[in-house]
Amino acid sequence: MNLSNKKILIAPSILSADFARLGEEVKAIAAAGADVVHLDVMDGHFVPNITIGPLIAEAVNRVTDLPLDVHLMIENPERYIKAFAEAGADWITVHQETGYHLHRTIGAIKELGCRAGAVLNPATPAESIAPIINDLDLVMVMSVNPGFGGQSFIASSLNKIRRLKELIAAKNSTCAIEVDGGVSPATIAGIAGAGANIFVAGSAVFGSEDYAKVIKKMRQAAEATFELNAKSK
Ligand code: DX5
Ligand code: ZN
Repeated sequence: MNLSNKKILIAPSILSADFARLGEEVKAIAAAGADVVHLDVMDGHFVPNITIGPLIAEAVNRVTDLPLDVHLMIENPERYIKAFAEAGADWITVHQETGYHLHRTIGAIKELGCRAGAVLNPATPAESIAPIINDLDLVMVMSVNPGFGGQSFIASSLNKIRRLKELIAAKNSTCAIEVDGGVSPATIAGIAGAGANIFVAGSAVFGSEDYAKVIKKMRQAAEATFELNAKSK
């Protein structure tokens, strides 16, 4: 199954979870209807923050059957993909900006049996991944500058999602579009309308009192937009 089959996937980012109770938090989002667990890996070089490594990914994998979406915000990501695959990563995404050999890294991720994705920072154009779009399982649009949770959605990301949608259609690619940063019940309809179907949400989920309620709200808003788009075609 490809990831772009129009199914809406909600991927809470554990960056905003209570790390002192990480196992419980992961179980709580799974029980609340999350489709995927998003893990933000930061190295203090590519982004200013430092977060988690394969050890934590392995611990998360032990408490859930949900797919793990490992977002590598690190320099030289090719050095670490094997460790994350062995820790249980199902999807591994690497930033377009981190290396000279994105095509090779994408191939290496797939050889390890994982879904492979490229991530675009706010200033990186959609066209930068056009030559390899048929090699990608997903492309992730950063709708904030990577490094921290809780930032505001950058509106120009919507145009980039639309452009990617066109590039994907033009090449008959099965590449899905994921969006990361500032996703909330208030912004998700616009993002779904632009053409994304996988939604990362950190603070909107973990900052809420009721995880199930906010996940449901976001799913319904995205679904309503998909239905509206389908009707107007
Ligand atoms: C930012 C991370 C995001 C982050 C999103 O660098 O990649 O996954 O957790 O957080 P929110 O949803 O709070 O914008
Ligand atoms: Zn992320």
